[in-house]
Amino acid sequence: MTLPSSDPAFYTVIQGERVPSLGLGTWQLRGAACRQAVEHALDLGYRHLDTAQMYENEDAVGQGLAHAPVDRDAVFLTTKIWHDSLAPADVRRTTEASLRRLGTDYVDLLLIHWPNPHIPLEQTLDAMLALQAEGKTRHIGVSNFPPSLLQRALAHTPLFGIQVEYHPYLGQHRLLRLALAHDLMLTAYSPIAKARVLEDPVLQEIAETHGKTPIQVTLRWLIQQRPVTAIPRSARPSHRAANLDVFDFALSAEEMRRIARLDRGLRLVDPDFAPDWEREDEPADEPAEAVLEAAIGS
Ligand SMILES: NC(=O)c1ccc[n+]([C@@H]2O[C@H](COP(=O)([O-])OP(=O)(O)OC[C@H]3O[C@@H](n4cnc5c(N)ncnc54)[C@H](OP(=O)(O)O)[C@@H]3O)[C@@H](O)[C@H]2O)c1
Repeated sequence: MTLPSSDPAFYTVIQGERVPSLGLGTWQLRGAACRQAVEHALDLGYRHLDTAQMYENEDAVGQGLAHAPVDRDAVFLTTKIWHDSLAPADVRRTTEASLRRLGTDYVDLLLIHWPNPHIPLEQTLDAMLALQAEGKTRHIGVSNFPPSLLQRALAHTPLFGIQVEYHPYLGQHRLLRLALAHDLMLTAYSPIAKARVLEDPVLQEIAETHGKTPIQVTLRWLIQQRPVTAIPRSARPSHRAANLDVFDFALSAEEMRRIARLDRGLRLVDPDFAPDWEREDEPADEPAEAVLEAAIGS
């Protein structure tokens, strides 16, 4: 497998910084399996890892990182604060505990995992900014924020990124537009719709044209959008390798549009504490197609 860093899709450039556009998701990976997955991924060439306090695997992620022959500062590491820990004192206490578990002095991106309407957002952000000022995180951001809540956060402080569910079956054009406007990274979680894209006839047809799989086409579709990074998760070495093998082909603008038309508002992660998602199929100020064109730069 070749990892051509000359492929513009290899990195996502956000606020002048290059972030590896493909990362390893680690939800539901724990213990030795998680440590080995991280170590193997870093060996393969992954340089972007996603964890969270709630995944109960930060220690294993940290061990994998420590064992891999890769410098800490060559890896973009994200963790997330759980939604019951967003009061300022809890932000500090739990983030410092995350750093101890991860075995590192800093993370690259610290996210609010889910919004909590009972804790003022601005207070949480101020506590995160204080940690950033102390060098405990390089950047801050949010996850699972609908557009209006993201705008509220941005009215308080600049952010580096937002992480949300994003795949061909769940369009995110409003958030994509905000990401483009504010130079934010949009990290796509559940990027392959938990492997459901494998059965898709359109993706299968495009995949066949390129000698790739529907999963590889989906990942390529995501990272060919300028502010987007994707964090597929796999417990299997062969799948981790396949998911990184997306840098030897490119999708045409027409293929990008065709995949975007698969959007059917399918949300796979929607716990009872989720915010009121502002539906992407409501009339918008701007058509989804126009945002996609801006994101792919055509
Ligand atoms: N911020 C949030 O609230 C949030 C929510 C959900 C997820 N996330 C993050 O996003 C990451 C990814 O999302 P996800 O774990 O929900 O789903 P996903 O990455 O869309 O799908 C994972 C599933 O796809 C399978 N898979 C992966 N690569 C494959 C391949 N090449 N061929 C066939 N099957 C493949 C995996 O099975 P195998 O293990 O058998 O390969 C697993 O069952 C998470 O791990 C987590 O880090 C964040």
